[in-house]
Amino acid sequence: MSDPVLNVVGISKRFGALEASRDVTLDLRAGEIHALIGPNGAGKSTLIQQIAGWLTPDAGQIMLNGDDITGLSAAQRARAGLGRTFQVSALAMQDTVLQNALLGALGAAGRLSLWGSAMARGEIRTRAEAALDRVGLGGAADMRVADLSHGQRRQLEVAIALTLRPRAFVMDEPMAGLGGQGSRELTALLDGLRGEAPILLVEHDMDAVFALADRISVLVYGRIIATGTVDEVRANDEVRRAYLGDAA
Ligand SMILES: Nc1ncnc2c1ncn2[C@@H]1O[C@H](COP(=O)(O)OP(=O)(O)OP(=O)(O)O)[C@@H](O)[C@H]1O
Ligand SMILES: [Mg+2]
Repeated sequence: MSDPVLNVVGISKRFGALEASRDVTLDLRAGEIHALIGPNGAGKSTLIQQIAGWLTPDAGQIMLNGDDITGLSAAQRARAGLGRTFQVSALAMQDTVLQNALLGALGAAGRLSLWGSAMARGEIRTRAEAALDRVGLGGAADMRVADLSHGQRRQLEVAIALTLRPRAFVMDEPMAGLGGQGSRELTALLDGLRGEAPILLVEHDMDAVFALADRISVLVYGRIIATGTVDEVRANDEVRRAYLGDAA
């Protein structure tokens, strides 16, 4: 088996008396969607923020393609190939879809040292348009983000992440707030995306998780209590008690 693309090793994080991450170890392998599930307040977003570089762990390491990225800033991690979407959207609502994607591609250009070069503008635009096409927003490039549906905004967030040509994705509840149709469309998009970069997916939508996940890890009170295939995790008694209940 090939080495994992992303390795999270022994991450711990305290907020005062609260242990939000307790010795969390998990990995993300090429081609897979690894879902991270668990009750509200379990520490899923806290873990994602430490992986993305918004929060500093008290202990532990994060490795991307074998390189230790624990000391890098969020921007450096993004340029190193970590693609992210967040539980709370960070889109520029009054700008167009294409303008938002161009901003993402500008970040990628920084990585490629394209600033000031003659090909920069063309390359940035090409990347942005390709990413919009990839998520099905090619026809909506000139729409204002404020006029998009929730589902289209989620697709745009994925497109912005794609402009960096990431080696791995971390996504925090991309399905949140979407109706049935939007969830199904985003599920189909993520399903196809895993071949380009594996996805660590925090999600409460169990239909999406069961449809997409190659493996699932279950986080409860900051600790991973189980990792396995969908069938293994659904059959796990501790997981049923702590989280899944009837959904299993
Ligand atoms: N900056 C912070 N300072 C103090 N406590 C925090 C901070 N961020 C998160 N917490 C606490 O850490 C715990 C884990 O929160 P986190 O947001 O990671 O949970 P979650 O699993 O993402 O929950 P949800 O499913 O509701 O999104 C919670 O008890 C939360 O209140
Ligand atoms: Mg959360």
